[in-house]
Amino acid sequence: MEFKTIVDTRVRSATACAIVGIYEKGDLGVAADLIDGQIGGAIRKLHVGGDFAGKLSESLLLARPPGARAARVLVVGLGPRAKFGRKAYRKAVLAAAQAVAKTGAADAILYLALEEQSDLDETYRARSAAEIFASQRYRIPDLKTTPKPRPARLEELAIACPDAKTARAAERGLTIGAAVAGGMAFMRDMANLPPNICTPTYIGNQALKLAKQWRNVSARVLREREIRALKMGAFLAVTQGSAEPPRLVVCEYRGAGRDVAPICLVGKGITFDSGGISLKDPHAMDEMKYDMSGAASVLGALRAVAELKLPINLVVVVASCENMPSGTAVKPADVVTTMSGQTVEILNTDAEGRLILCDAITYSRRFKPAAVIDVATLTGACIIALGNHLSGLMSNDETLAAELEAAGQRSDDRAWRLPVGDDYADQLKSNFADMANIGGREGGASTAASFLWKFAKDLHWAHLDIAGTSWVSGSHKSSTGRPVPLLVDFLLQRAASQ
Ligand code: BES
Ligand code: MN
Ligand code: ZN
Repeated sequence: MEFKTIVDTRVRSATACAIVGIYEKGDLGVAADLIDGQIGGAIRKLHVGGDFAGKLSESLLLARPPGARAARVLVVGLGPRAKFGRKAYRKAVLAAAQAVAKTGAADAILYLALEEQSDLDETYRARSAAEIFASQRYRIPDLKTTPKPRPARLEELAIACPDAKTARAAERGLTIGAAVAGGMAFMRDMANLPPNICTPTYIGNQALKLAKQWRNVSARVLREREIRALKMGAFLAVTQGSAEPPRLVVCEYRGAGRDVAPICLVGKGITFDSGGISLKDPHAMDEMKYDMSGAASVLGALRAVAELKLPINLVVVVASCENMPSGTAVKPADVVTTMSGQTVEILNTDAEGRLILCDAITYSRRFKPAAVIDVATLTGACIIALGNHLSGLMSNDETLAAELEAAGQRSDDRAWRLPVGDDYADQLKSNFADMANIGGREGGASTAASFLWKFAKDLHWAHLDIAGTSWVSGSHKSSTGRPVPLLVDFLLQRAASQ
């Protein structure tokens, strides 16, 4: 999809669809007012006739209104004028993207950026629009033999700006938004694939492909023999029951000097989590193909960073394997030695994410990282705590936590701080090893994070539990692309402050 800016204050450009906004109570936005003058007051009449209240996310299509140079005028509700801020803007843009998708329009002009709104800069508005329109256009790579009939898609979106200066600011926003959407689509494609296709080997190959496609990106894919040489006893325990071979994927993006410490993103890449010998209930077990969403998201973020050529160094470490039951599978009560040297009694083989991640976090130390952020579909308990709206955020570093929280807010991909540390780590006591891999039902998201916390001592570390946010279930079952927007926003801020 193509994005561009245009300078158009008269709302007179030819287009397949002009998108304009109305606030509540028939209070026409800047563009709606101008276009209404060209089409004989049709928009005002809509409101007077009771057909359009201007409620947030409401939309109505006027086809071929006489007098307009636009083939269609899409009127979008902006809600109360006094409340029109970041959230309302994003909701209105999403409603517009959804409504345009139902028309045959191949191109459109978004006039919402002309609205007065002091706390939304042009870059942000354009960035959100590009991200929202591009993601709304996403289609699952399905394997249906007869493709679903699909309406024509929007191919070009122009953002109308009041002058050349704002257009330049918007231009940068479009670049960012398109890169974020590209990273999300990369993640979603990988996560939506069936687990017999998206295997650890497949994930390794995708990383190698990224390294081929993007300058400044290199990738190494380590096999079982090398993982063994690294003494990753916990990672090896999880993979030992599977016929599918494991992979440790290491991608490096270099956008700054050699002496600049990298940010390290660590991803959980379980391509199928059956629970192992502690086998899961069959209900919705298919969704455990999404247990590699953390891995897919950190690779998606890397792709966006490479596309934006950010002046930072970034390392992505992905531990990827299956979690399967078999005669060679790890058993409850097995004790393993992690790469850090600490021993773990595996009391539940379904608490496997923390086992592969603890070794990946230990591995990340060799890069002398400025920060390590692991991303994982780690616990069902996090979904119980936060639902599907917010990711869990745990950290041993106040500044890093605050940065990630702010990044989530700005990118509308929010995370909520949850506790981590000694109190919860105490629940992991074992009679037979340094720690157990489970800590009881109480505070399950925090005990899981506290297990990782024990391996992140002296690192600036944060953990994102994306169990509830990285995919949606039900008839629209699909990967969401989260937390790519949060991660990219965080990295953009780090790049700007360097
Ligand atoms: N991948 C799951 C967590 C999960 C469950 C994510 C459901 C999304 C939806 C993880 O490996 C797991 O099985 N966790 C267990 C931990 C328990 C055994 C301590 C859980 O949450 O039940
Ligand atoms: Mn599990
Ligand atoms: Zn899992």
